[in-house]
Amino acid sequence: MKRNIIITGGAGFIGSHVVRLFVNKYPDYRIINLDKLTYAGNLANLKDVEDKPNYRFVKMDICDFQGVLNLMKEEQVDGIIHLAAESHVDRSIKDPFTFAQTNVMGTLSLLQAAKLCWESLPEKYHGKRFYHISTDEVYGALELTHPAGIQPPFSTKASSGKNHLAYGDKFFTEDLKYQPHSPYSAAKASSDHFVRAFHDTYGLPTVVTNCSNNYGPCQFPEKLIPLFINNIRHRKPLPVYGRGENVRDWLYVVDHARAIDAIFHQGRIAETYNIGGFNEWKNIDIIRLLIRTVDRLLGRSEGEDDRLITFVTDRAGHDMRYAIDSTKLQRELGWEPSLQFEEGIELTARWYLDNQQWMDNVTNGDYLKYYEDMYARR
Ligand code: NAD
Ligand code: DAU
Repeated sequence: MKRNIIITGGAGFIGSHVVRLFVNKYPDYRIINLDKLTYAGNLANLKDVEDKPNYRFVKMDICDFQGVLNLMKEEQVDGIIHLAAESHVDRSIKDPFTFAQTNVMGTLSLLQAAKLCWESLPEKYHGKRFYHISTDEVYGALELTHPAGIQPPFSTKASSGKNHLAYGDKFFTEDLKYQPHSPYSAAKASSDHFVRAFHDTYGLPTVVTNCSNNYGPCQFPEKLIPLFINNIRHRKPLPVYGRGENVRDWLYVVDHARAIDAIFHQGRIAETYNIGGFNEWKNIDIIRLLIRTVDRLLGRSEGEDDRLITFVTDRAGHDMRYAIDSTKLQRELGWEPSLQFEEGIELTARWYLDNQQWMDNVTNGDYLKYYEDMYARR
């Protein structure tokens, strides 16, 4: 079947992996990457697909309602996969307005454009889908009831690290009440509510997913894993918030993209699916794993860069623990993560070490020039 799909935020970290998967896997689909190219958007992430005949890049702000509506009509869009967002918690603490504008108003603008566009067609919502990508942070924070870790109640073929543990008894399930704490997660929660309201009020065919922390190639180096890999390489201090006791549940970005593919095609309308690999890690343990991995890959003695660890003032409102229960997704759609964490971290560290030019470009601003040149050529 032929489909015309807008992927918003396709030049960002997760979006670029989703665009690549869809462009390569579905040559009959037309994939339109709609991205404003904020500091986090980088067309260099998509060099390998930019000349494919089924791919188009459009530089646009999701808040530009008329622009989005015109594009949807022009491209006869029947699917939207919405990833565009302001995504970094620390930035949201400094500048909450931008997060409300993009994450809430931008999502509303896309919803209203989809509604108007699809309602005007003879077949209306038949065969259409609005897929909203959200985060586990909307559920708030879980407690660290087992600081030393316990045997987890779940097992999957390939998800967890070799020493996998759970750090509490509770997990995020789809029916949990929303309790966001940061301006970022509050804005994402609000956008999730708008998506569900458009289904309940107008019948828009929506689906929402809430995923745990992603890691992998092409993540902007303000986030823990790429920032620390780069700092270890350059022997810069590693700023660990608080005591490094906070727990995150990590998923390789390509596995998230695979889940998005499965849910876009087979997920049930109006449903919510949690996405995660049952892979909880304390920040300090992950940091030590990163140090050992990068030291080994650089031919240093493993662990010699432990001395870079620097405990700093904690993040305001720092959520203690995230842990996703993705049983529903695994049971209904048969999705499972493909990698063990240690394998994924090795791949990721290798990628950043092998792509120092990418890192230099995103940290010195040259990539903005790349966009301008690219855009001028189109
Ligand atoms: P990112 O910050 O790397 O990329 C965001 C992309 O959105 C960029 O390309 C940026 O240019 C674009 N964008 C921002 N504002 C825009 C606007 N107004 N109009 C059009 N484009 C705009 O983000 P990411 O980490 O790839 O996250 C993508 C989505 O997945 C977000 O919705 C985020 O909430 C969600 N998510 C992320 C994670 C994670 O661990 N990174 C986990 C779960 C969910
Ligand atoms: O859970 C999903 C979320 O994961 C996504 O919705 C967000 O978009 C994504 O940014 C991520 O949020 P986190 O705040 O968990 O990710 P971050 O990489 O910023 O931080 C991971 C953990 O590491 C967190 O406990 C804070 C800590 N940290 C982070 C940085 C950047 C540090 O200790 N030092 C740091 O310098």
